[in-house]
Amino acid sequence: MQWILGLLHGTDYLVAHLLLGSLIFYSWILSAGGEDAQVLECKKALLLRRLAVVTLVTSVLWMIVSISDMTESWLPQDLWAGISQTTFGHLWLVRIGVLLLLSFSVGPLLNTSLGRKILLLLAVTVPLVSGFTGHASAQKSFIFWRESLVISHSLSVAVWTGGLFRLHQWLGIRLRLRTVRPEMSHSVVKRFSQFAMASTGAIGITGIAMAYLAGVSPSHPLSTAYGRLVFLKLALFGLALGAAALNQFFHLRNWNPSQELQFSRVIRREIRIELALVTGAFLIAGFLARTSM
Ligand code: HEM
Repeated sequence: MQWILGLLHGTDYLVAHLLLGSLIFYSWILSAGGEDAQVLECKKALLLRRLAVVTLVTSVLWMIVSISDMTESWLPQDLWAGISQTTFGHLWLVRIGVLLLLSFSVGPLLNTSLGRKILLLLAVTVPLVSGFTGHASAQKSFIFWRESLVISHSLSVAVWTGGLFRLHQWLGIRLRLRTVRPEMSHSVVKRFSQFAMASTGAIGITGIAMAYLAGVSPSHPLSTAYGRLVFLKLALFGLALGAAALNQFFHLRNWNPSQELQFSRVIRREIRIELALVTGAFLIAGFLARTSM
């Protein structure tokens, strides 16, 4: 049962952060490629709606299995008592309501700048609810700093991983076309790399600070189950940064308009490696949030 809870929680973290990160990609990164880059991505609303619906399903499942774990019962009346009488239940009902709203409103709202801002505000609340119902909110000391760290960690994770996910998919569309304006993919990748550098810096700093506040000893990080999970996350993060560095300091730096097709191919290949590694980090986060500090 603990394995199911950890994997479900990790999967829920993954889709919730990809949803917010995708909206940030469409609002502030894809625009760097100009009108033709935006036209290429004609199924935005459908892709976002699907991600919102998947996150809705994982959120409902996560809320029910967590309440059943809390009440040690699967009886409907016990589950409803747990949902209606706990802060956890109330916050997750808000999250489920927001995801329902997102699923229905993403189509009409995506095409206007005000609409996109409303969608971003709604999508930001989704990962925040897990931040307000995780370890940080259960502690007695430094509540403000712990919550600020987990929120900054979560938002930077969304920017980086949602951007990776959408850039991989957008480059896939580009690679199905024979010819495009060579600067288009270069501008989108360059803009994303700026967001990626800032967000990965923030992920590393907030992650290490949270681990320290959680009591992970810098001299013996592997002495606890919690410390070993954090160390594994750090290792996956380090490997993903290795693939990202190849994109940033080799492929992007050696970009040549006459070899744009090859550029899009190799950038997408490294992104695929990064995505596999960060998916591992999300699943570990699902277990980390349930491991005693
Ligand atoms: C690919 C990189 C990473 C991803 C995708 C990731 C993802 C996450 C997620 C989704 C959470 C839960 C936030 C919440 O409660 O709402 C989290 C929490 C956390 N992360 Fe990361 N993280 C990454 C890198 C790191 C690194 C490099 C470290 C430390 C060196 C780290 C340490 C932590 C810690 C200590 C927590 C708090 C867990 C808890 O006690 O609830 N993370 N991370």
